[in-house]
Amino acid sequence: MAVLDIARMGNPILRRRAAEVPDPRAPEIRRLVSDMLETMEYAGGIGLAAPQVHVPLRVVVFSVEAERAIEEAAEEGPPSEPCGPDETDPMADGGVPLTVLINPEIEVLDDTVSPGLESCLSVPGLAGEVPRASAIRYRGHALDGSLVERAARGFHARVVQHEVDHLDGILYPQRMTDLSRLTFTSELERAHRHVPAEV
Ligand code: NI
Repeated sequence: MAVLDIARMGNPILRRRAAEVPDPRAPEIRRLVSDMLETMEYAGGIGLAAPQVHVPLRVVVFSVEAERAIEEAAEEGPPSEPCGPDETDPMADGGVPLTVLINPEIEVLDDTVSPGLESCLSVPGLAGEVPRASAIRYRGHALDGSLVERAARGFHARVVQHEVDHLDGILYPQRMTDLSRLTFTSELERAHRHVPAEV
């Protein structure tokens, strides 16, 4: 395992569309994911996409501890209604399990847009208010090739939309509709405001 160098805004790798992974079970993908997890932990982030470590492949990892999920959800406003009785909702117990998604796809379930602060390991020291779809369904492959499919709301849905954007060469400032809502995290700290987790 290795801690990898994280590309920052301005690096062309963050602007290009990442390629599909032909075989999620390939040993080099397992190694990549293992390095991404170590890098994410070292950097103190809760999500990471392969292009952020200079690998142009459609692979993302994320994990939100229950405590953090509750804190972030409070910033998102009141909890929304469940997606439906047939949906699994890992947010129901507060956290998001450590998830590896290869070739992820997103389907918007509720295009009601909710604004929320985001921060990115590739845009260090800044946070911005980004409108995102409130509820999505996502699917992708795990390292063993099995299909992962979940419905997600709130912060969970936000993290997945942020990560999949990385695979399409999009950084969160490009999703902002009001650049006056871009701030240094040090200013949030100074104002005793919530600083979002980096993804
Ligand atoms: Ni990011």
